[in-house]
Amino acid sequence: MLEKLSQLFNGRKRLLQTIGDMQGELAALRHTAAQLTEGKASVEQAHELATALTDADAANAAVAARLEETRAQLAAIEANARTDLTDLRKEMAAFAAAQDRTTALLTELTSRLETTQSAVLEVKDRLSYTRHRWDALDKLVDYLVVAHVPGDYFEFGVYEGRTFGYAVKILSGIFPRMRFIAFDSFQGLPAPKGPDAEDGYTGGFAEGQFACTEERFTEQMVKSGADMRRITTVPGWFHETLGDTHPVSGSLGKVAAAWIDCDLYESTPPVLDFLTGRLSVGSVLLFDDWRCFRNLAEFGEQRACAEWLARNPQIRLNDFFDFGFGGKAFTVAACA
Ligand SMILES: C[S@@+](CC[C@H](N)C(=O)[O-])C[C@H]1O[C@@H](n2cnc3c(N)ncnc32)[C@H](O)[C@@H]1O
Repeated sequence: MLEKLSQLFNGRKRLLQTIGDMQGELAALRHTAAQLTEGKASVEQAHELATALTDADAANAAVAARLEETRAQLAAIEANARTDLTDLRKEMAAFAAAQDRTTALLTELTSRLETTQSAVLEVKDRLSYTRHRWDALDKLVDYLVVAHVPGDYFEFGVYEGRTFGYAVKILSGIFPRMRFIAFDSFQGLPAPKGPDAEDGYTGGFAEGQFACTEERFTEQMVKSGADMRRITTVPGWFHETLGDTHPVSGSLGKVAAAWIDCDLYESTPPVLDFLTGRLSVGSVLLFDDWRCFRNLAEFGEQRACAEWLARNPQIRLNDFFDFGFGGKAFTVAACA
């Protein structure tokens, strides 16, 4: 179409040039006619003038016809161009709508992919690191459903919240009033010392191990879809944050279940002392690291628990179940 248009415009230019030339000739003819009128021209000149005038008339008519033809062609091209433009606009609108649909589809696919990825991760978790812990939590739920133990879920040492997140997931729906309390330094383990580093043996634990910031922990919880209004985090070292005078932990009530996962002996006594007045008959204590430190009674959580029971003879525990290589759960048989 552009080529056609340019041809037409060139033709029009040539016609205008011809019209210019003709106007020049006409001026010459007018001059001769004036001479004739004044009687200055010869008879031959008068003849020539008459012939030239006839030719000029014919040429004029031809140019006028060509101009009319060009005008009609231009009008047709303009009409076509308008139709093409309308079609083009329609096509562009259809394309934009298709683009919107594709974007919406992509968004949906991305969200489905994310759901699938998290489901795959959940299955992978189930089959690896958290398998035994999650099995233990499943047992805990079955137990609590029939045991009717008052209180909340407490976890001491939450790291990135994989166990904690699963606990929230499976307990929150069944126990709509239950709250979930996460205690952690959010700086990882303290340096192993005393019985936790006897003869240089630290059970594989080290200062700063399992460091995860509170922000990252919270992010993980939000990502897992947990209702954050039901979660409380208590950041800081246990011996500083666990006490009745602490503004957050001091206001906490009964414990339905406590997941004790702080690895070291030194970290465990403040946890057990804090729990003492918050237990009920039937409360569950789950020690994640019971058999760490070579399964020896004088080390780790086993030692802390034995010392606690010796300090609190009113408390008696019943064996509940073992989980993983190192975990052990008890129910409280007496606490007053
Ligand atoms: C093995 S990780 C916990 C893993 C977590 N329960 C899970 O299942 O994914 C141990 C956690 O205990 C915390 N921790 C150990 N001793 C502590 C102490 N004395 N005070 C505060 N946090 C402590 C560490 O910061 C670490 O996050």
